[in-house]
Amino acid sequence: MFRAVLTDRLQAAFTAAGISLPEGFTPNVVIAADTRFGNYQSNAAMILSKQLKLNPRALAQQIVDKLEVTDLCEKISIDGPGFLNFTLGTAALIQRLSLIVQDDHAGVPPVSKPKRIVIDFSAPNIAKPMHVGHIRSTFIGDALARVARFIGHTVITDNHVGDWGTQFGMIIHGWKTQLDQAKLKQDPIHALVSVYKAVNAEAKADESVLTLCKNELVKLQQGDAENLAIWKECVRLTLEQLEKVYGTLDVKFDHYLGESFYNDALAPLVADMVDKGIATISEGATAIFSDGSVPPENDPFLIRDKDEWKAAPCIIRKTDGGFLYATTDLATIDYRVKEWNADEIWYVVGAPQQLHFRQVFAAAQRRGINTKMVHIVFGSILGPDGKMFKTRSGETVGLLEVIEEAIERARAAAEEKEQGFSDADKNEIARIVGGGSVKYAELSQNRLTDYKFSWDKMLSLQGNTAPYLLNAYVRTRSIFRKLEGAVELTPELAITEPAERALAMKLAQFAENAHDVLDDHRPNLLANYLYELANTYHGFYEACNVLRAEGIVRNTRLTLCEATSRVLKTGLGLLGIQTTERM
Ligand code: ARG
Repeated sequence: MFRAVLTDRLQAAFTAAGISLPEGFTPNVVIAADTRFGNYQSNAAMILSKQLKLNPRALAQQIVDKLEVTDLCEKISIDGPGFLNFTLGTAALIQRLSLIVQDDHAGVPPVSKPKRIVIDFSAPNIAKPMHVGHIRSTFIGDALARVARFIGHTVITDNHVGDWGTQFGMIIHGWKTQLDQAKLKQDPIHALVSVYKAVNAEAKADESVLTLCKNELVKLQQGDAENLAIWKECVRLTLEQLEKVYGTLDVKFDHYLGESFYNDALAPLVADMVDKGIATISEGATAIFSDGSVPPENDPFLIRDKDEWKAAPCIIRKTDGGFLYATTDLATIDYRVKEWNADEIWYVVGAPQQLHFRQVFAAAQRRGINTKMVHIVFGSILGPDGKMFKTRSGETVGLLEVIEEAIERARAAAEEKEQGFSDADKNEIARIVGGGSVKYAELSQNRLTDYKFSWDKMLSLQGNTAPYLLNAYVRTRSIFRKLEGAVELTPELAITEPAERALAMKLAQFAENAHDVLDDHRPNLLANYLYELANTYHGFYEACNVLRAEGIVRNTRLTLCEATSRVLKTGLGLLGIQTTERM
């Protein structure tokens, strides 16, 4: 990884020049946005000169004098107020290129300190409509898990499904009074959701129905055999169908430890928190209040009301004895820390749950847990009209519907092409292109911003889309098909043309990019990198003829095609997008 090596060398040059670096200061090296001055750039001399009150250009010169990078760079320059610019040498680039085509990680080195990371994502609720938030969570979580594993972390994925909760009062009542068994067998997720909605409406209109539902819930919580059996069947049917959806999407979980898994841990947990004085009994409920250890603006247990800070307690046991979402999450943290030795826990959950996680994390810390916990937040998906994304009938859109429609649309597009594909080929292409398009539309966005869902845009062969990238991959493969028969790439490489150099440089940056994704949990960095790579490849392909070239030139160009092909396949794979050899 050039950036990491340059950083180390810079650090060594500071030492060699007798400049001691302030605590915590690491020279910053970035990929140059403008390649006229070089490929990598550092502003370390400028930043340090301010701290040490020196002339930045003079300091830069001092460092350059001691810098040992002849194996990597053909030029180092000091530009502007004191930027250090590094231009990579051809030999170093060639070495990288060979590594990419040989290494099964396409030249991406592992992290120096691997961690055990639990990733909590997707987590839909049983018998409640799945919403678009679950789409975002599923794709972002899966991509982050893939990247983290790829660079050497130990990753444990856990689908914390909402398989316990007050909705089961209504579901069980509905199950007993109005369930359509045929529909349930055919499409359990929708069947249960419609029962839930119908009973919900009834209960709103008729108090007595609400009471019946509450009674069913109490019976369930007390372990009534019939109700437990109904609940189990709901969970089983839903998970079975969900697993099919995940299968289509190629999303896997190591565990499905839903909320119900923690039921027995909740009462002891609350008792323990009361014992330790972390939670207090207040008006019959048990809750966690501010302990005044942080300034009010950072305190998740306080809320600002006009000019006053008021208590915003996190309730962990209701007056009726029932436990809450937060209680389950606290028990879940215990389990993940004790049983899985988690160094970090990542929660890929929408922005509306921010306060919930701030409170839960703070409560866990007070219990002495110092595992790093991160809430990886995301915004909403909007419909084409810029409002919340809804189906034509005004319902929230579920993962299932979106995937089915994407595949159908991709199938229709495949149908239009007369390429002699069999039906089975077309189905496979539709699955890859359709599923990939929805994933890519998500993953190419900054997760914090809301984005508009547009079928036409995401399925387009032009622009920053999955079909565009998949097509770029297909083009790299078609060269090798045209060659008919095995091509032996040799290690003799020579980069001469600017377009060859630009492509080799872009390919080398995959190593840095794959690591950068995890800095702020942003798969869109990788998506955008792949898009730039595809563009650079097209530029190369137009400028440099591959098949008519000869000797070492041809070998180099074929190697560039092979490396592009590998990086595209690996990179798309990290986003959870499969590739196809033809489309
Ligand atoms: N089931 C929740 C929902 O749909 C998401 C769960 C997220 N994970 C967690 N540990 N709380 O909103």
